[in-house]
Order: sequence, then structure tokens, then C-alpha cells
Amino acid sequence: MPDDSPLQSQTPDALMLFGFWYRALPANKLRRGELAKTLLLEQPLLVGRDQPGQPFALRDACPHRGMPLSCGRFDGRQIECSYHGWRFDAHTGQCQLIPSLVPEQTLKIDRIYAGSYPCEERDDFLWVFIPDPGPAGAGFSKPAPAPTPAPEIPKFSKHYKLAYLTADLPCSVDHGIIGLMDPAHGPFVHQAWWWRSQHSIHDKQKNFEPIPCGFRMSAHTPSSNSAPYKLLRLYADADSITTTIDFVLPNLRSEIIRAGKYWFSSLTTVTPVTRNQCRIDVVAAWNLFRWIPFGPQLLKFVFAKFVEQDRRTMELQSEGLKHNPHLMLIDDADRPAKWYFGLKNAMLEVKKNGGEFRHPMTGPVTLRWRS
Ligand code: FES
Ligand SMILES: [Fe+2]
Repeated sequence: MPDDSPLQSQTPDALMLFGFWYRALPANKLRRGELAKTLLLEQPLLVGRDQPGQPFALRDACPHRGMPLSCGRFDGRQIECSYHGWRFDAHTGQCQLIPSLVPEQTLKIDRIYAGSYPCEERDDFLWVFIPDPGPAGAGFSKPAPAPTPAPEIPKFSKHYKLAYLTADLPCSVDHGIIGLMDPAHGPFVHQAWWWRSQHSIHDKQKNFEPIPCGFRMSAHTPSSNSAPYKLLRLYADADSITTTIDFVLPNLRSEIIRAGKYWFSSLTTVTPVTRNQCRIDVVAAWNLFRWIPFGPQLLKFVFAKFVEQDRRTMELQSEGLKHNPHLMLIDDADRPAKWYFGLKNAMLEVKKNGGEFRHPMTGPVTLRWRS
């Protein structure tokens, strides 16, 4: 993908990246002994929490004849399929019992597995690792552990608050992600009296650098018209405030704002549900406003407003996208979107043909735009 063409058309495809951790659902949606159905990357999942409180994730299909395991019974340890009563260990998916077998039948039931995925609880969310698909038609075997722990929000003090927001977006994960990293829609989509108006558009210049599987908007003083910056100025001297924004495959956007001993950190993910449906989850941690009674609510209100404006925009955009219009990405405002597609293609290439990951950036870049 040449980086220097002033206009570039690129149709976002809906291919999803397997072999990564994805947020499945908020941890408080699942109490001990409960089950929940969900869909990630078009994989039907059954997520549950055992009696001691450990979460687990199984493919929501019985390996016998495909009955959703979510129709079955859960005793806090094992899932019993509602069709013929096969029982599976909730954490490994290993078959424990086939009620129809008579003693002389020597089927090795411990070699039968329901699909099971690594599942971890992190920062108020349950994360599931979705491995690369096996050969078509192959069944499941003993589950492999995830190669890395689930992503975590960076935190810079012992005490902090945590809050999350979630919204369904009626578009492919690619449109969800590039909508998140697009700097030019701000003045048009996110207008509000406490934020800014179209008239506040001005020239911006930001430095970016490659990082493993992603890129970083280098530490800088936040935009003077950004809300967190305005709030932070109440606490710290303007020059001491810096923000760093990273994007890392498959779908992680993290933002860290630091001002002396105060910090605000968020990890936003856009998760593919189906090829034309995704979900945005914003989880933020901070040690500001700990003694202001309405601090967290205020912050949540500001974020909810933003996310709702983005969601509404993408809902309208999806109307336009239905008929497969020709699309384009322009420099410099859409360069991060181009990097995203470059990173994703490089990752798909490695998965398909092996070899080294070819990062689309060769070094630091300065981008300029008006917003
Ligand atoms: S389909 Fe599950 S036990 Fe037969
Ligand atoms: Fe936005």
C-alpha cells in the first residue's frame, strides 16, 4: 500500500483476526453458577462462572449433535447437554459422562471435547481468546493455553476508579476501528457546548511512531479543546499534562493522560460480532476526582455522550454502506486508517504464509490535519 498517494481508495473488508483476546462481556453480567450466550467473530459462545467464581468459555455447540450447550444444565462445575445428557467439564470442555453407554462399551469419553477457549477476567470484563480456526470439519481436542495474558489497562497508583461503557455498532469491525482513530470527524460529530463547535477547527500536527503490531501518537500536550484536558488543568499545571495514544492489533486503542501524580487511562476495543456488526467497549481507570462526589458520573456522562454520537453516526453510515459505494482514504487525516489496514494485512499475510511481520511504517511520521 503506497503511503504517498494523495488519494487512495480502499474498501474495508470484513475479515476478522483470529488468534487474539477479545472482550466478551462485562464481568458483573455473570454471577457464580450463571451462564450467558454471546457471539464473537461469528463463533457462538457460552460464557459462564463456576461456583468458586472462575469464568470459562465454551463453544455453544455440543460435540455430539450440535445442540447449543446453553440449552443445557449447569451445576456450577459441569454442563449437561439437554439432548442426550452428555456432561462436560466447564473449564476444559472434556467429556465426563455419556449416559447411553453400557459398561461393556469402551468408548474413551475422556478423548471427547467440547470446544473450550481461554477466558480471563480483567478490569471488569471477561475476555476470551479466540484461536486460529482448525482444519475444516475437525473436532475439538484438549484446549491449548493462550500465548499471552489478556490485555490490561495500565495503572499508575494503587487506588483508582474503574468504569465502562459499551455500545453495539451496526458496521464491520474495520469501520468501527477507523471511526475510532479518525481525527477529522470530531468537530462535526462531537459538537456540544461543553466541548467545541465547528468554529474551533484549527491546524494540528502530531507525531506518530511504529510500535509492535501498532502505532503510537507520541506523548504530547493534549489538544487545548479536549474535555479531559480542561478537567485536568484544574489539577495540574498545563505544561505537565501529557497524553499518549496507542493502537495495537487486533482492536486495542489505549490512551494515557498523565499530569503529575494524577492519571487517566483507558482501553477501548472494537470487537467483531459478525462480519457487519461490532461492539465498542470503553473501560477507563483514573485516580482523579476521587474526592469529588460526581467525578465518575461526570466522566461517564461525557464518555457516554461521545460513544452515542459515534454509534448514531455509524448507524447512519451503515445505510450508505449497504450499497457498496466506492470509498477513499485521504492524507493526512486518514493515514492512521491506512496504517490500520496495512497492519491487518501484514498480520493476515503472516497467518497465511508465515514469515516476518511487515510493519507498514518504517519510522516516525508527522501528520497534519485540521480538526
Ligand atoms: S447433542 Fe448433546 S448430548 Fe447429544
Ligand atoms: Fe468519535
